[in-house]
Amino acid sequence: MPRPEKHVFVCTQSRPEGHPRGSCGIKGCAEVMNEFMTQMQTRNLFEKIALTNTGCLGPCMMGSSVLVYPEGVMYGKVTKADVKTIIEEHLLGGKPVEKLIVPAEVW
Ligand code: FES
Repeated sequence: MPRPEKHVFVCTQSRPEGHPRGSCGIKGCAEVMNEFMTQMQTRNLFEKIALTNTGCLGPCMMGSSVLVYPEGVMYGKVTKADVKTIIEEHLLGGKPVEKLIVPAEVW
């Protein structure tokens, strides 16, 4: 497997309802993960971009959380509808999607 140019981590952590930290699980992270899978398969991107589901990334209150390396860009409140934008503008275009980046005081 060639070394990927970028690595996308999608938080798929769930916690019980009413948990004080909440979780990406109750904010639609499964849909976000599925959309990344679908879009990347359709566009045949798996040779260039790695995709990994992961446990809690930290900023649970901003879920669904998506982290992109090597830049170390943390996206928050990501929805299924944002996935195409992240792929086209950041992963392929090289320009992080400013409006989705979590505030510096959060991460
Ligand atoms: S549960 Fe997703 S960032 Fe914590």
